[in-house]
Amino acid sequence: MADPYLPYTVTIRKITIENETRDIKTFELVFPDGQQREQFDFVPGQFAQLSVFGAGESPIGIASSPLDADCVTFTVKKYPTGVVTTALHNCEPGQTIGLRGPFGNHYPFDQMAGKDIVIVGGGFAVTTLRSTIRYLLHESKRSGFGKITFFYGARTPGELIYHDEISSWAQRPDIDVHLTVDNPDDNWTSHSGVVPAVVTKIAPASDNAIALLCGPPIMVKYTIPALKDLGFPAEQIITSLEMRMKCGIGKCGRCNIGSKYVCIDGPVFSVAELQKLPQEF
Ligand SMILES: Cc1cc2nc3c(=O)[nH]c(=O)nc-3n(C[C@H](O)[C@H](O)[C@H](O)COP(=O)(O)OP(=O)(O)OC[C@H]3O[C@@H](n4cnc5c(N)ncnc54)[C@H](O)[C@@H]3O)c2cc1C
Ligand code: FES
Repeated sequence: MADPYLPYTVTIRKITIENETRDIKTFELVFPDGQQREQFDFVPGQFAQLSVFGAGESPIGIASSPLDADCVTFTVKKYPTGVVTTALHNCEPGQTIGLRGPFGNHYPFDQMAGKDIVIVGGGFAVTTLRSTIRYLLHESKRSGFGKITFFYGARTPGELIYHDEISSWAQRPDIDVHLTVDNPDDNWTSHSGVVPAVVTKIAPASDNAIALLCGPPIMVKYTIPALKDLGFPAEQIITSLEMRMKCGIGKCGRCNIGSKYVCIDGPVFSVAELQKLPQEF
């Protein structure tokens, strides 16, 4: 992209309501031509700035895989007082919005090659992990990685997003899926309880393994020690931060933690890297 402040104009092809409370929606976006889609070359873990003209822009993690050639997908939670997220939720299919990016670093696929991958997600923060899993499960990529174990939790069954897709992953022999909710209902047949407790119970092997972690701060806080107790060193636990941002390209200073800008040095960091930074996140 020649000017990093200039957004692509993309069209909303489809909007899916993801949860019972209807405040999380997934937007499938298409570019006006294939060349622009090719220019928007990203790796799972990266984010983009989505803008609604007249309302502003917000950083949102990319939820589709780079191997999904036809569209780029984002899942957005509407904050009751949120200007941009509310404007996005008011959009209809066929409308055009702005897309700037891709920005930031990504999950360390070179480091992950040949290793078992443990993926731990919570709530709607599972977006870039969905991108990662779609990528890892692609027939052209799957043999490059070991066993995949996916833990995903939410408060209630109705708050688990990507429901149908995750159910289809659970049917596959090449990924082990563990869903959990804090408050199960009568139809719930999987785990109950908080994510770190389920990780401890299932105890995925840490030899030659790497863990990717993205979720609410409280889940991340308690899952890190659970993974360390299983033998994962801090260098092998990777997480993603959601600091407030403005420019997305290291110019405005809005997102810094110590000497790092989350928009260009992150959002993906290992726990070992985070331990060296001031605890401002
Ligand atoms: C790298 C990155 C990836 C992200 N990925 C996603 C995603 O995939 N899906 C998604 O729904 N959201 C994601 N977010 C968060 C998203 O950017 C914010 O929710 C959004 O910018 C809010 O915009 P708004 O204009 O609606 O809210 P505003 O009008 O700016 O604020 C509304 C309220 O939300 C609070 N708020 C806004 N942003 C943040 C924040 N980052 N941290 C804490 N509080 C905040 C404000 O303090 C205020 O109370 C991501 C953020 C980052 C930095
Ligand atoms: S958002 Fe401007 S420096 Fe990071």
